[in-house]
Amino acid sequence: MASRTVSKALIPAAGRGTRFLPFTKAVPKELAPLVTTPALELVVAEAAGVGVTDVLLVVNDEKRPAIDAYFGPDPGLEQALERKGDEKALASIKRPEQLARVAYTNQDNPRGLGHAIGCGEEFAAGEPLAVLLPDDIIDDRDALLAPMLEAYAEHGGVVIALLEVGIENISKYGAVVLADGADPDGDVVQVVDMVEKPKAEEAPSTLAVIGRYVLPPEIFDALRRTDPGAGGEIQITDAMQRLAKEGTPVHGVIFRGRRYDTGDRLDYVKAVVQLAVRHPDIGADFRAWLGEYEPEAG
Ligand code: G1P
Repeated sequence: MASRTVSKALIPAAGRGTRFLPFTKAVPKELAPLVTTPALELVVAEAAGVGVTDVLLVVNDEKRPAIDAYFGPDPGLEQALERKGDEKALASIKRPEQLARVAYTNQDNPRGLGHAIGCGEEFAAGEPLAVLLPDDIIDDRDALLAPMLEAYAEHGGVVIALLEVGIENISKYGAVVLADGADPDGDVVQVVDMVEKPKAEEAPSTLAVIGRYVLPPEIFDALRRTDPGAGGEIQITDAMQRLAKEGTPVHGVIFRGRRYDTGDRLDYVKAVVQLAVRHPDIGADFRAWLGEYEPEAG
């Protein structure tokens, strides 16, 4: 039986970030700071925190240099900080490269999330793969990947992360159908079907797939057999649904912790505020300011 230890993760980061133009004209969206740390570092740290040692970043030619620079060494800056004796800043710039071995692959012609994940076949090399979407930030006080890896160790197959999002939001996500008898109040549930971005009136449930996946090696074959779906893109949801129909077990870990969605502008600003209020350096001052801030006064 194939190993059920997950030591590899893939992070898609080749999107154009058009919702964040003009900023993303020059800087990859994944490097936008959540106060001081880019979302991309937070998700690499999350993966490393559950034992992932190798990370594949799916990028494109334009975004790669900046991302590569962020995860690589900067001897000049390191020396300058050493001379100043700024240990804290020094540790912070070395951290990205210490978290995991980072490799890159190019997705120059983005054809959807499924296509991005398909770019990781050689990297996975027959092993299971964790996939983390950097738009979804999971609060580091709440566990999601760890119980997903436990579910994978127990059941194999596909493990997805689920969040109750309400009928008004379900059309932005993949929505799932639970197995008969599955308890939506439980922690791990069996999933029998899913649909990508359903209209509210057609949604099979309000349990949404969020941006963490544990995928078995069979996913690559399923992706090859998956035609473009919602939005004309190759959808990972459709490939997982195909596996489910063919008998691969699919389990969902229901997340009830804190998640910050940095995918659109309003949610990004909310995420920055939520992270700023608990930031070790500025949190206390920011909370005090926020308490007195009068939005109407500007
Ligand atoms: C992707 C997936 C969708 C999932 C979502 C989670 O959509 O296709 O199934 O619910 O991520 O954030 P995207 O947000 O890339 O449109």
